[in-house]
Amino acid sequence: MCGIVGYVGSRVAQDFLLEGLRRLEYRGYDSAGTATIDESQQIKITKSVGRISRLASEIAQMPCSSRVGIGHTRWATHGAATITNAHPHIGGDEMLAIAHNGVIENFAELRTQLKQLGYRFNSETDTEVIAHLVADAVKTRAKLAVNGHTFDEQLAIDAIKDAISQLRGTFGLAIIFKQWPDSIFAARLGSPLVIGIGDGEHFLASDASPLVGYTDRIVYMADHQVAMITADSLQVSHRDQGVIVHDVQQLSVESNKVELGDYEHYMLKEIFEQPESLKNTMRGRINEDDATAVFGGLNLTPQDLLKIKRVVFTACGTSWHSALVGEYLMEEIAQIPVEVEYASELRYRNPPMDENTLLFAITQSGETADTLGALREMKRKGHATLAICNVVGSTIAQEADGGIYLHAGPEIGVASTKAYTSQCLALSMLALYFGRLRHLSYNAGRKMISHIRELPAKIEVALQSNQIVSDIATKYADCNNFLYLGRHYNFPTALEGALKLKEISYIHAEGYPAAEMKHGPIALVDESTPSVFVMPQGFIYDKVMSNLEEIKARGGPVIAIAEEGDQRVAEVADDVIFIPQVEEFLQPIVTAIPLQLLSYHIAVARGCDVDKPRNLAKSVTVE
Ligand code: AGP
Repeated sequence: MCGIVGYVGSRVAQDFLLEGLRRLEYRGYDSAGTATIDESQQIKITKSVGRISRLASEIAQMPCSSRVGIGHTRWATHGAATITNAHPHIGGDEMLAIAHNGVIENFAELRTQLKQLGYRFNSETDTEVIAHLVADAVKTRAKLAVNGHTFDEQLAIDAIKDAISQLRGTFGLAIIFKQWPDSIFAARLGSPLVIGIGDGEHFLASDASPLVGYTDRIVYMADHQVAMITADSLQVSHRDQGVIVHDVQQLSVESNKVELGDYEHYMLKEIFEQPESLKNTMRGRINEDDATAVFGGLNLTPQDLLKIKRVVFTACGTSWHSALVGEYLMEEIAQIPVEVEYASELRYRNPPMDENTLLFAITQSGETADTLGALREMKRKGHATLAICNVVGSTIAQEADGGIYLHAGPEIGVASTKAYTSQCLALSMLALYFGRLRHLSYNAGRKMISHIRELPAKIEVALQSNQIVSDIATKYADCNNFLYLGRHYNFPTALEGALKLKEISYIHAEGYPAAEMKHGPIALVDESTPSVFVMPQGFIYDKVMSNLEEIKARGGPVIAIAEEGDQRVAEVADDVIFIPQVEEFLQPIVTAIPLQLLSYHIAVARGCDVDKPRNLAKSVTVE
């Protein structure tokens, strides 16, 4: 949520800042801004409301050749999306500019204190408090400098440490000072920052995507660290340990993964990447000889895992839907009791959990504040915590005791697609692994593996429905309400289909277990409310067919997602999207494809901004 970039080196800083902000725009896109230091050593701020393209036009009118600068793209938390509230913010009589991700919980009291000291506030943001707090700390330290201390960059680092020690909440900060025009400063607590190391230049960003193509040497900042970055040097210090040796890692993302290519939207590109992303999720994780799955990163022995009597999946949004799929899979295949908890609720509940309970946090971004909060609470209680995560090096991936990386590749579209299907696949393989540790036979394991191996090809076939789905979307794009219905493995799919439609087309949609519909929601059914039935073949098919007939009997239009050759459904439904035959435990992955395409095409038909839907952001780093 919100994106930060920074640059110091020999390039024109604004070139990198704009390109970096474009790549981070998926994290928030209400407003944006940059701050650079011009030749006369003054801080120059450019801001605009709306997309980065607007900011680029502003900058084009008044270019600046500065070699140092910071930038920010915002998802509003405190105060509306206005120029005044856009970052960077100025602190202490234009001494510094600051860009901030995260939320400061005690900003109101700090603001009162700072006002009493004479600081004036222009915005409604919590960030301006940090700007003045740092400026005030610099002034206090500068007074000490008169008494023999040095007035140099070290003073800035100490002042930043003084200031952030007063903050309650989360922050990733990028700061420039006009006194120290050759440096940028960064600080982190609970909101990610990555430093890229180039030749005679350094980059800063809130995730690695802006660095792709500029450098492949990166340093992930950890909580309580402050960095001072010049063109030629990087010094990282920790609140308690002083200056530390920073660990330089290799950035592995290929640049084409974050480019749009020939696609009109990232969402469509990512939908079509699923045969590949699923292959990547399963790569190296199948052991045919033992008829099981292999997970190198769980950091728990089979003996540890055999002691597990209960699993809790915690997540938010789409990841929570994959957790529901995981619940069906683990109970059915591994016979382990599972609970699925909204992370935002789990954190503040006090559920009885014994030592044999294993917690999995499921998250695409690895930065979701609610999920991180739940994970930390469970860790604090002494439980083993594992993550199922897409973004390598993300906060949740680092804080969990172990886990599974999805390897789905960067997901830029705000609406999650390929990460969701990779989550479902990872959970299927986890169920196989846990099952094989328990009662699941060698033969049953081999059968599961052969079905898993066929999955990417089935997805290719499911994607061939794109044109048919597009035609169906045109027919229903003006409807204001949709119901999504499915049972057993396909109940979570119904929830996910409804969420996808809501997110990107702003149509009201509800997902239910198909049988539950007659207990209330059926009252909504009329000729203008389509019901999307997710009904591939399976042991519950006949029952779902009865639910479908009940809707038809009340005049409701029906769009069915059914298996190739299903004539029975073709005769009753108004429209059918066919998918290939697939084993029941993998149905949630294949049935997700037409639902993703349906929401995509409806959103396009309604003229919505598919990749950057209103009010949303890709990673939700506030509670
Ligand atoms: C998915 O389409 C949504 N944008 C949203 O529900 C998302 O899944 C949720 O915020 C959780 O994000 P995470 O997987 O990164 O933790």
